[in-house]
Amino acid sequence: MKILIIGGKGTIGKKVSVHLSKKHDIIIAGRSSGDVAVDIADSGSIKAMYGALGSIDAIVCIAGEAKWAAFDSLTEEDFYIGLRSKLMGQVNLVRIGQDYLNRGGSFTLTTGILADYPVVMTTSPAMVNGAIHSFVKAASLELKNEIRINVVSSGLVEDAVEKYEAYFPGHNPIPMKKVINGYVRSIEGKRTGEVITMYDNS
Ligand SMILES: NC(=O)c1ccc[n+]([C@@H]2O[C@H](COP(=O)([O-])OP(=O)(O)OC[C@H]3O[C@@H](n4cnc5c(N)ncnc54)[C@H](OP(=O)(O)O)[C@@H]3O)[C@@H](O)[C@H]2O)c1
Repeated sequence: MKILIIGGKGTIGKKVSVHLSKKHDIIIAGRSSGDVAVDIADSGSIKAMYGALGSIDAIVCIAGEAKWAAFDSLTEEDFYIGLRSKLMGQVNLVRIGQDYLNRGGSFTLTTGILADYPVVMTTSPAMVNGAIHSFVKAASLELKNEIRINVVSSGLVEDAVEKYEAYFPGHNPIPMKKVINGYVRSIEGKRTGEVITMYDNS
């Protein structure tokens, strides 16, 4: 398969890319990293990327930002960071990208545990993650040409523990192998409209 991975050089993305490259042709996109430049917060940039790449079998997004801060400090503009990047960035990757996917192709988006188990400072990312879950379920009903769509929602991943553990007291980090398998399940499996949760709450 020809697979486009937006965010394929990031903490999660690099592990997913290395794994998928054993079986597939991988193209990595990012604002300043990878093979092709894209800023998902800018729909013109998304159109230019797809136009340059031609048809693709799987589009994977492991990118997108939202502001983490105390609720009483967040301005309206702060919320728009997440709405423009992580939410509409991923929605636009699907909205525009459906014309570039081959029959039977797939989209795999990325959210996270905050959608279901938020921690403090996360009203913006938690809200955006929840919206993406609803978007994926609804879009799966309407995508044509046997195109599938799923979202991988993982807990704090092992490789990001140092950066985020202070926000997640008592959380069990998710092994990278398990996170990778969420993406493999979406890309190589047959299911659609699924929120693939990789949480460990026990
Ligand atoms: N880390 C975790 O424990 C965890 C757990 C669950 C969910 N998630 C979610 O998974 C996603 C990736 O997390 P991560 O920890 O791997 O992040 P990361 O290490 O910061 O990597 C993010 C990647 O996305 C690219 N990127 C960021 N903004 C972009 C934009 N506007 N347009 C295009 N590319 C962009 C970056 O490359 P450039 O800088 O070159 O653009 C980078 O390659 C995030 O949405 C995060 O919320 C993370």
